[in-house]
Amino acid sequence: MRNKIPLSAKVLLLILIPFSIRAKTLTYPVNVGNMVCEYKTNPISVDVSNPRLSWKLYSLIRNTRQNAYEIRVGSNALLLTKGKKLIWESGRVNSDQSTQVPYKGPALISREKCYWQVRVWNNKNQASGWSEVNYWKMGLLNRSDWVAHWIQDTYKSDTTGGPSPMFRKEFNIKKPIRAAYLYITAHGVYEAQLNNERVGNDYFTPGFTSYKKRLQYQVYDVSSAIKKGDNAIGVTLGDGWYRGYTYDRKKDVYGSKLALLFQLEVIYENGSRQIITSDKNCRVTYGPILKSSFFDGELYDARNEKPGWSGADYNVSQWDNVQTNDSIKDHLIAMYGPPVTKHEKFTPIQVLTTPEGDRVVDFGQNLVGWVQFRLKGKAGDTLRLFHGEVLDQKGNFYNKNLRTAKQEITYVFKDGDAETYEPHFTFQGFRYVKIQGYTGPIDSTNFVAYALYSDMGQTGNFSTSNELVNQLQHNIQWGQKGNFIDIPTDCPQRDERMGWTGDAQAFCSTATFNMNVASFFTKWLKDLSADQLKNGAVPYVIPNVLDSTYVAASGWSDVATIAPWTIYLAYGDKQILQQQYASMQSWVSYIQSHSRNNLWDTGNHFGDWLFYSGTDYEDGAALTDKNLIAQAFYAYSTQLLINAAKVLGRDEDVRIYTLLLNSIKKAFQTEYVTPSGRMISGTQTSYVLALNFDLLPENLRESAIKRLVQNIDDYDGHITTGFLGTPYICQVLSRFGYTDVAFSLLMKKSYPSWLYPVTKGATTIWERWDGIKPDGTLQDPAMNSFNHYAYGAIGDWMYKDIAGIRTDENSPGFHKIWITPHVGRHLTSAQGTLETMYGAIKSAWSIADSTYTLNVTIPPNTTANIVLPSVSGLITESGNNIYTVPEISNIQKNNTGMQLTIGSGDYTFVYTYKPTVPVVKH
Ligand code: BGC
Repeated sequence: MRNKIPLSAKVLLLILIPFSIRAKTLTYPVNVGNMVCEYKTNPISVDVSNPRLSWKLYSLIRNTRQNAYEIRVGSNALLLTKGKKLIWESGRVNSDQSTQVPYKGPALISREKCYWQVRVWNNKNQASGWSEVNYWKMGLLNRSDWVAHWIQDTYKSDTTGGPSPMFRKEFNIKKPIRAAYLYITAHGVYEAQLNNERVGNDYFTPGFTSYKKRLQYQVYDVSSAIKKGDNAIGVTLGDGWYRGYTYDRKKDVYGSKLALLFQLEVIYENGSRQIITSDKNCRVTYGPILKSSFFDGELYDARNEKPGWSGADYNVSQWDNVQTNDSIKDHLIAMYGPPVTKHEKFTPIQVLTTPEGDRVVDFGQNLVGWVQFRLKGKAGDTLRLFHGEVLDQKGNFYNKNLRTAKQEITYVFKDGDAETYEPHFTFQGFRYVKIQGYTGPIDSTNFVAYALYSDMGQTGNFSTSNELVNQLQHNIQWGQKGNFIDIPTDCPQRDERMGWTGDAQAFCSTATFNMNVASFFTKWLKDLSADQLKNGAVPYVIPNVLDSTYVAASGWSDVATIAPWTIYLAYGDKQILQQQYASMQSWVSYIQSHSRNNLWDTGNHFGDWLFYSGTDYEDGAALTDKNLIAQAFYAYSTQLLINAAKVLGRDEDVRIYTLLLNSIKKAFQTEYVTPSGRMISGTQTSYVLALNFDLLPENLRESAIKRLVQNIDDYDGHITTGFLGTPYICQVLSRFGYTDVAFSLLMKKSYPSWLYPVTKGATTIWERWDGIKPDGTLQDPAMNSFNHYAYGAIGDWMYKDIAGIRTDENSPGFHKIWITPHVGRHLTSAQGTLETMYGAIKSAWSIADSTYTLNVTIPPNTTANIVLPSVSGLITESGNNIYTVPEISNIQKNNTGMQLTIGSGDYTFVYTYKPTVPVVKH
């Protein structure tokens, strides 16, 4: 099988590559490696016509940049070195571009495999060696490449919540093979086996897209699973997102019948090809999975297992015929985002008997995935597992906040031997598991839990001298892991789990720091475009499983402009702006056409969802006018559209939308701001949005920031913002010189604050500031998720302003970097690392006895401006006066410290720290 090494291990290897290159192969002044094609290492299902290639430079020499590159692409790995005829040679290109370089050779055809290498020249014109050979392989580019037939069972019980059909086909391989690839997709979710071995390590394939317009297929290299002689392929299907329950117990959103499509292409040594397809010769039956649903869990009767069912010698005489269904017309596309795979393993940290007498296993982390167990039982014995996120105030098992979702696993034993089981087409959000039907001992030999999430690869780390803040960062990362399951969801446990756009826009930037989400969002944004209404309205959730009237809410639908811009900045990916431009434009025109004189004060909006107030989210002193918010986001979306138009060179659009933006801002000021700068809603969110989106004239900004600071003071230093104000409040405070207030907000431990849940034992970000109230009781179960990432948006500020790592917007993707760390008087050290498209950035500061030390790493082919805070006296870098260090230039004083520019390499700055920023007391 292709994925002998678990994908998580591969990711680890990838992270380690730079170090191995350092250790072993830094033979040249500049070296090249870590090559990716469309964000993937050696992808085999590429369906874009000009795949983009990226690589990283490695060098021990500071200030290394790329002056030129050369790419060669051949149809055979050996050809590359032999100087034979190649598919494409770029020749030497004088350019510093080392990311997203498009292939510019002849048009590629279905299945074509391209081997590629790159070499570079540094800024001293020294060449690297040729990189190792990598490849990409094209998918099936035309519908006509699919000779397989869609197949279905003919059972009446094939309905939502019904058993999982198992399909099987036998085939014979007569000659030695060179390679074999399985192309496969389904209506529903599938799990494939070849000769009794699972194909790949992906789960919930084909993934969640706007199925009626875009259905992904996966490709697996199954060369090593095929043998000479008789073989068999078996595929099980589940309801998944296709027809499974969604919001309001709606089902069959995309159709009511499951279906399967596959073709297994075997290439023989002599180059000929045999295609084994799903067709009328397949057989089908039901097996052990009697029910399986994302919301409700799985019902598995092991007595119905069919041992060896996908092996060659299994007897299929009792199985039924399938029907082919060629009326299914799908828009098949190659998978683009990362697959969902299995990650961390958890062992029980304790087994409790609750006051109500339940037996409950605590895995210590609110995670999303499932429990795997290995137990003995008598045939017919039933084990039931119930999953919950928290215990209630009395310490009893609690799952009322799941609403109608059951999250229950029921397993029926087959015989007296130890049986190992894990679910198939479901996932649970949980920390605690209530066990019924088993009274024996429980430990890590018989119960473990696995986290499952999109295999994005961790890119960021953030830590400080404060353990509570570190736990907050942990919770933010786990909020991301638990909610990035093929799409960005609101929550992973109750009966929603949808791609809520507001949550996604709030968290998107933080997400880009923690993990590589480029391909994840690229895929999801295509679904956004696909589901956007003709008039430009963007649905509340993507893919849109709701009614088409649930569209166009400010701060939610604006994900259409915010996410593409965020991905562009984080990865320097201009193509995402090209891809989404029409969608961005049409969202802005939707608002325009629903405004009077560019004032958008109509429509249904969620407002600053879940802001703090005495009685919480409907009224109270922190209530911000919903139309004011709508107007603010109208301006922001228009601003981002202008930004995109500038990048894409659409000058006329820049002109038109700049005029529009001016008029939107005027309307905002006239309607919501008094001449002296008081806003009609005197809330934190009002001032935050007005300042962050530059909606106030220059002369009113100073008073606005003061009012914001005053408001925070009025709440005794607490945050009162909801989903829309929270992402920006600390950013705004820092931007206008009040970082100390931002730190106070961050460090606050009483409700409402970011650390309050941490003091209550949270291991993820909660939906509400007080999911568990100060008196220990739980919030309203109708809306009380303990795994909702929106408030985790503070992570963005932690990376950007505490560690101080941000990209220069004019040179995105961290090609030009700003290192602007801020010192908070509550911390003695902080550090952030970020693996970018160019390599690793690090910014780590510490203060001891007024001595400030900043360690910075900047990857090759980038430069960084560093702002050293509160400098006094001599600054040294690795022991030398900074003015004598050749790689440091542009040294100048700025109003908060000293600014200087460096090239790539590791640097250590040391000086005496002297705070000049006034300390605001909270
Ligand atoms: C979801 C949210 C979402 C909201 C919209 C909730 O039920 O869980 O996170 O953004 O609805 O109002």
